[in-house]
This record gives sequence, C-alpha cells and structure tokens, in this order.
Amino acid sequence: MASGELRVRFNDILATYYEAAPETLAAIARVIEKGDFIGGRAVTEFEQDFAKFCGARFAVGCASGTAALHVALLAAGIGDGDEVITTPMTFIATAEAIGHARAKVVFADIDARTLNLDPTAVEAAITPRTRAVIFVHLHGNPSGLKEIAEICRRHDLVLIEDCAQAHGGFLKVDMNAPLQHAGTVGAVGCFSFFPAKNLGSFGDAGAVITDHEGMAEHIRRLVNHGRRDKYLHLCEGFNYRLDTLQAAVLQVRLRKLSTAVEKRNSICTRYENGLANLPLAFQEMTVEGIHARHLFAIGTDSRDDLQKFLASRGIETGIHYPIPLHLQPAYANRGFKEGQFPVAEKVARTTLSLPLYSQLPMDHVDYVIESIHKFFGQ
Ligand SMILES: Cc1ncc(COP(=O)(O)O)c(C=O)c1O
Repeated sequence: MASGELRVRFNDILATYYEAAPETLAAIARVIEKGDFIGGRAVTEFEQDFAKFCGARFAVGCASGTAALHVALLAAGIGDGDEVITTPMTFIATAEAIGHARAKVVFADIDARTLNLDPTAVEAAITPRTRAVIFVHLHGNPSGLKEIAEICRRHDLVLIEDCAQAHGGFLKVDMNAPLQHAGTVGAVGCFSFFPAKNLGSFGDAGAVITDHEGMAEHIRRLVNHGRRDKYLHLCEGFNYRLDTLQAAVLQVRLRKLSTAVEKRNSICTRYENGLANLPLAFQEMTVEGIHARHLFAIGTDSRDDLQKFLASRGIETGIHYPIPLHLQPAYANRGFKEGQFPVAEKVARTTLSLPLYSQLPMDHVDYVIESIHKFFGQ
C-alpha cells in the first residue's frame, strides 16, 4: 500500500460497539449483577422486541443461526428420507442444518440477476420426497421469495427463510400489502447474530421467528433440552439456548438497526451510481421492499485481478462465496458434478464483495469507486 493512501476496512465490528458503548456495558452489567446468566429477563425481553420489530407473533432465541435452522427444520417435521431444496450459493450452515435434520440436501441453481434461488429451478427440483425449501436472502436481498412462496403453496412444501443476512430487510408480497420483514413470509425465519451481521452480538447467537404458536412452542422446547419444566422433558432436545449476555447486547443494538440499514443502503446507492458505467454486474432487487444490504457484491471476469489491485491500494474485499456448496469437499460423496449449477459456479468465479458497514465513511466509499475506475483504466 502506497503511503498517503487510505486503508479501507471490509467491516468494522467495533464501530457499532463504540456507537453505544455506555448503554451496552450497562446492559451487560445488569445481567451480571443479577447473576441472571441462563434464560432470564434479557432473553425474554429481546425475544419480545425482536418479534415486534419483525412483525412476527413469536421469536425464540437460539445459540446461533445454524441452531435456528436446525430446530426450524425439526419443528417443521423434516427428517429421514425427506428432501429439502436450497441454494448452492450460501454459507454452508444452510445445507448443514438439512444434514443435521437427517434430510437430503437438494440444490437448485440461482438467478444470475438476484443471486437468490431461481424459482424455475426450484420447481424443477421438486420430487415426491420434497418436503421443504430453504430460501436464503443472499446479501440481504428478498428477491424471488414471493415466487417461491407461491410454488411452496402449490406443492404443499414448508418454506423456511434463512435470514442470517437479512436483518432490517423488508418486501411486499403483493402490491396492496404492507411491507413485511424478511422471515415472515415462510413458516419460519431463521436469524444469525454472528458479530459481523447487520444485527450482531459479541459472540454466537441466533433466533427463529414464526406466527405459528405450536411451532414456537416446539422450537422453545427443542432449544432447551425438550423441557416443559426444570426436570420434565417432553422430548430429547439440545442446549441451543440464546446466551443471556448476548441477548442484553442485542436488545441495545436492535434499537439502532433501522438507521444502520438506511446507512448501508445509502452507501450501496453511492457504489451503484459511482460504478454504473463500468463493465460490472450488480445484484438486482426484483421486488418492492428494503434490501438489508448485509453485503455489496459486484461481478466481473477480472475478479481476482481487481481484488489484488484493490488490496494494493489498501482496500479490503471479500468473496461470498468462492466455492459453491455442491463442489465443496464436504459434499464430494453426494454425486454432484461441476457444471451442474452453472450460474452459481459463475458467480463463485466472478463475485467480489466491497467494503460495507453502516459507519463506513463516504470518502472511503469514494476512494473504492475511484480505485475501481482506475483498475478499468477510466
Ligand atoms: C446465509 C447464512 N446462513 C446461516 C448462517 C449461520 O449462522 P451462524 O454462524 O450464526 O451459525 C450464516 C452465517 O454465518 C449465513 O450467512
């Protein structure tokens, strides 16, 4: 990196802490001073606040986004011999949860415009054994969900939304309907509060939201050893509880989520306008709503060279994701082949995520834009 140039970080998870340090530390101290370490008030209050924020009837805190997906599948009755369709262009946790539920993961290709599951490919992947679809709001984009919800209705499939990247994202499922938060279209929405997320904690944490009381109760039991009372266990469950200290941190941060998503959107608009005349692909939003903008990805055949060039100018970038799941060693024995999901494979070769966090200074955004213009010789 040449001297005098900026260092542009991809994300700065401490910036969110410093925005509300005294409130956050006070919330943590309240938990410690009460010795309220498992369950307790902070968890209940955060669950209520999060359900209200999302416009869902129930929220159940979980230990992580992966745990949330696992219990959502189990509560939906998914198990041995069932097939669950999802995208190969996601973090492995989406597919892992299907395996944890002893079901078979079936991939369908993505739409090159939205980077989300292609509804036509989903419909083509349905077999008599298909029981559910996990829709991932990739980078926070809800596009395609509406069409996939309709397919699930027609084929009587459970729709589970992986909202690990979609906190603060909304969509309209029909023109006259109000905006709905990600996770409220399907039977359940699963969230991760991993520190780098739009709503991040100080460790691992997650939640499930649903409008179905029975499902919420089932999930609440599953995350806490199948308990109804302290020593009365209705089923074998897990220790997948949301940690109380994390719940206290999340309660403070949730109040700032809408503003943070607005800022993410203004940064992304600046990127889109600044890069508009370059030979780049952008993730499209094909539904009315609010993109949660967890990540901002561009597509170019010169991805690797561009990434190196930006690194030489002090700009950190990321790749989400470099290997589509069907080509991961973890799934090598499942009979997937290279070329089977060509859109996901192309995206894995060409996509580059630019720096993005709500406090990212606009002069850093402009420097990234200027550097990309330089790369393309303009
Ligand atoms: C799309 C997606 N699904 C699931 C997960 C898993 O969440 P967690 O890391 O909280 O288990 C992540 C997060 O990293 C993710 O990005």
